[in-house]
Amino acid sequence: MARIAEAAVRLNRSTVPAGKLYPFGGFVDIGPVAKAPALAIILWRMGPGAVFPPHDHDPVDVVTLCLEGSCRAHHFEIEGPRPPHESRERFTLRQTLDLHMTPGRCSSLTRTRDYIHTFQAGPQGVLALDINTSLPGKGSFSFLDIQTEAVDAGQRLFKGNWKAL
Ligand SMILES: [Fe+2]
Repeated sequence: MARIAEAAVRLNRSTVPAGKLYPFGGFVDIGPVAKAPALAIILWRMGPGAVFPPHDHDPVDVVTLCLEGSCRAHHFEIEGPRPPHESRERFTLRQTLDLHMTPGRCSSLTRTRDYIHTFQAGPQGVLALDINTSLPGKGSFSFLDIQTEAVDAGQRLFKGNWKAL
């Protein structure tokens, strides 16, 4: 993961293929630019102020690299056991990262660290690259609702629940 992030931040922007992006969810245009066993590289673009809702990536590790524009990245972890995606019960999340991403900056997540993330595009929008490393195990993915008001601001604790988009 660290070596992928290290390589990502040294990436020459002009070498990234344009890719074919497809609208998804009304907030992002997204599409693959390269796939190889255990690796998928996904390009995504959002307009000014658009929000990529919070979601997890189990069992995938992800490095997100900002290529153009800017965005705010927030990462979270669930306090206690991770409820199944089918559950609609509310649980507590801790915000673990709050990053202002500009070209050349990256954020990352693993199955056990910072594994829920959300992005809000800056005033010029954002173009970013996700480098996904697939890990053994059954694939699973869900969006979440996370309350904007913290239940404990000092500890960065929030309430949330899994949801379909
Ligand atoms: Fe993601």
